[in-house]
Amino acid sequence: MFTPSSLSITDQVLAVLACDSPRHQQVMESLVRHLHAFVRDVELTEAEWLTAITFLTRTGQICTDKRQEFILLSDTLGVSMLVDDINHDKPAGALESSVLGPYYWEGAPEVPLGAAIAEGVAGEPTHYSGRVTTLDGAPLAGATIKVWSGDGEGNYDMQLLTEMRARAVLRTDADGRYHFWSIKPSYYPVPTDGPVGAMLRDQNRHPNRPGHIHFIVSADGYQPVVTQIFPSDGPYLDSDVVFGVKSSLIADFVPHPVGARAPDGRVLDTPFHTVSYDLVLVPSDALAVAA
Ligand code: BEZ
Ligand code: FE
Repeated sequence: MFTPSSLSITDQVLAVLACDSPRHQQVMESLVRHLHAFVRDVELTEAEWLTAITFLTRTGQICTDKRQEFILLSDTLGVSMLVDDINHDKPAGALESSVLGPYYWEGAPEVPLGAAIAEGVAGEPTHYSGRVTTLDGAPLAGATIKVWSGDGEGNYDMQLLTEMRARAVLRTDADGRYHFWSIKPSYYPVPTDGPVGAMLRDQNRHPNRPGHIHFIVSADGYQPVVTQIFPSDGPYLDSDVVFGVKSSLIADFVPHPVGARAPDGRVLDTPFHTVSYDLVLVPSDALAVAA
C-alpha cells in the first residue's frame, strides 16, 4: 500500500540519488539542494516555471556544431569565469586565464616569428612581442603560442569567410621570445539573435566584449593557459558581457605615427601600434594557490 512520505520533496529526491561515484553524488546532491532552495526562495510560479522551460528548450534548439548557446548562457551569467577562477588559481606574476570563446578554430597555420598574420584584414597594424618565461624569469624556448582575434571592426574570420584570417601558431626562440604582426582588435557584440540575446535585453545589459586577442600558451612541463589580452584604451573593459577581463590581462597598445620605425626595423606607411606582453607559465606539478 502507498504510504505518503513524511519527508520534504527535497529530502525525497536526495534519498533516491545513488550515483556510482562519490563525486557525481556530491555534485547532484548539491545541485538538487540549491535548485530547490532557489525555487523556494523566489516562490516560482507555474507560469515562470514554463517560461524557464521554454527558454532552455530554445537555447538547445538553436545550438548547432558551430553555435553553442548554452556556453554563451554560461558565459553571460558569469558561470564560465567562475569555473575558470576555481580551476586556475595562479601565483602572483603568472599569466592568468580567461574564457576560450566560440571562435577558436583548430588547425591554424604555424608561422615563423615576425610573420604578419592579418594581411588584408581591417584594422590598425600592431606589432606583438614578449617572452614566455617561468615565474623566476627563465626563458621557455620552443613554447607554443596559438593566437586569434577578430578584426579592427569586431568581426571574426569565421563569421564572414571560409578561410582563416588573423590566427596562427608560433613557437618561441631560444630566448623564449615571440613576435608577430596582426591588427589591434575592436570590441564586438556576442551573438544576440537567440535566447541569450533576448535575456540580455530583458536584463537591460549591453552585449559587448571589449577588444581582445586570444592566446593559448603551452610548453612541456608547464600548465597551458587559455587567455586574452585587452588593449587598455578600449570601451567595455569594466563591463565585459562575459566577465572575462582581469586587470593583469590589460596591456597598453602604444600608438606610432606613419614613418615611425617598428621594433623589427620596418618603416610603415600607416600608423601602427606596438604591444609588449610577457607570458609567464607555472609548472604542471605546482600546487594550486589557496584562495
Ligand atoms: C570571445 O572572446 O570570442 C567570446 C567569448 C565568450 C562569448 C562570446 C565570444
Ligand atoms: Fe574573442
